[in-house]
Amino acid sequence: MELCKNIRTFCDDTETPFYIYSETEIENRVTALKDCFREPAYTLLYAMKANSNPQIIKALAASGFGVDACSVEEIRIAALSGVPPENIYYNSDCLTADEIEMAIRAGVNITVGSLDALCMVTGKHPGIGISLRVNSGVGAGHSAKVITNGELSKFGILLSELEEAKAICKTASVVIEGLHSHTGSGEMEVTNYIENARIMAELAKSFSSLKFINFGGGFGYDYVTHCSYDISAIHVALNELRETYDLDLATRFIIEPGRYVVAGAGMLISRVCSVKHTSSRNFIGLDTGHNHFPRCFYYDAWHDIENMSAGQQKKMVYDIAGNLCQSGDIFARQRTLPETEVGDLICIKDTGAYGFSMSSNFNSRVRPAEYLLKKNGEIKVIRRAENFDDIISTCVLD
Ligand SMILES: Cc1ncc(COP(=O)(O)O)c(C=O)c1O
Repeated sequence: MELCKNIRTFCDDTETPFYIYSETEIENRVTALKDCFREPAYTLLYAMKANSNPQIIKALAASGFGVDACSVEEIRIAALSGVPPENIYYNSDCLTADEIEMAIRAGVNITVGSLDALCMVTGKHPGIGISLRVNSGVGAGHSAKVITNGELSKFGILLSELEEAKAICKTASVVIEGLHSHTGSGEMEVTNYIENARIMAELAKSFSSLKFINFGGGFGYDYVTHCSYDISAIHVALNELRETYDLDLATRFIIEPGRYVVAGAGMLISRVCSVKHTSSRNFIGLDTGHNHFPRCFYYDAWHDIENMSAGQQKKMVYDIAGNLCQSGDIFARQRTLPETEVGDLICIKDTGAYGFSMSSNFNSRVRPAEYLLKKNGEIKVIRRAENFDDIISTCVLD
């Protein structure tokens, strides 16, 4: 997101740290997806786990997106944000009986990813329609931690278990309306996505009642060079699969990107609390940490970092650290920035996806506010910062 003057003044005047998202950037991504997957036989879902702020969900719902919700809490946020139940696809893992009941009551589409869960659902709700999450064996992702198909993945019903899954459904007159498979998250190459899709399209022929195939999300975002992800290669390939496997238009194709929609729209703004020099390193210490933005800590993810306050000072090489009581709380090592002082504003870029949504209260610290930079330049708070009362409110003190 380009820093416009408007944001700069706002950052100077606003308590840090905070997230700010650009409505325009999100809209550009939405338009790109809608223009690409334009045929009516496509359904576009937004994977809420990337960023579940209700204002973002509202905007996406208004643009015609449904959602992929991975918890009953996400179902409730989607419903509160105006997403109709038929546009909510519940793709959870390790379902409990209570969660199943809540999803059924909410009237959303339910995906089941294990034979155990399938027995639970079919036992309690004979005759309903569901979809099956399948582990095709083709997994991919920007880190081993986000690969969701293959031998090491906990997700999905194995190809070798599908006949049993069909039999379980048949016994309870449960209709398999959809197939779902998601390779993983954030790989820039499209080959694995397409191969997984091919396996699903081929498989579809052996299911008689399918209304859709959900090929998952996982569209990559290049945090380093900002090369674009080739959505059009995926679109072409999916259309070819429809032809090759003779799938008529009544079988909808679903995609469910998350990161692709919001990653580039977000910035985490913080202030420098300390600048320290050891014999080999210069450290910048911020007023935020991996409790607010965990991607660098979890995945060694690279994010561009800018000193917004600096002018033409000489450049220095810094390690940029968070404020948590944990030595691994480092956002970046050996980055060249203008000479930095206490009080400078630091922007961690491309933090719109898996930022706030993965944040925590580690070290008993509060989570930050979120703001939306609207198309008309207005900046609106879309989540206030937490305070101590929020943190202590769930504790029993006596
Ligand atoms: C089932 C499913 N769909 C969609 C996504 C979204 O992935 P991404 O944000 O990389 O597009 C995920 C991410 O884990 C997922 O598990």
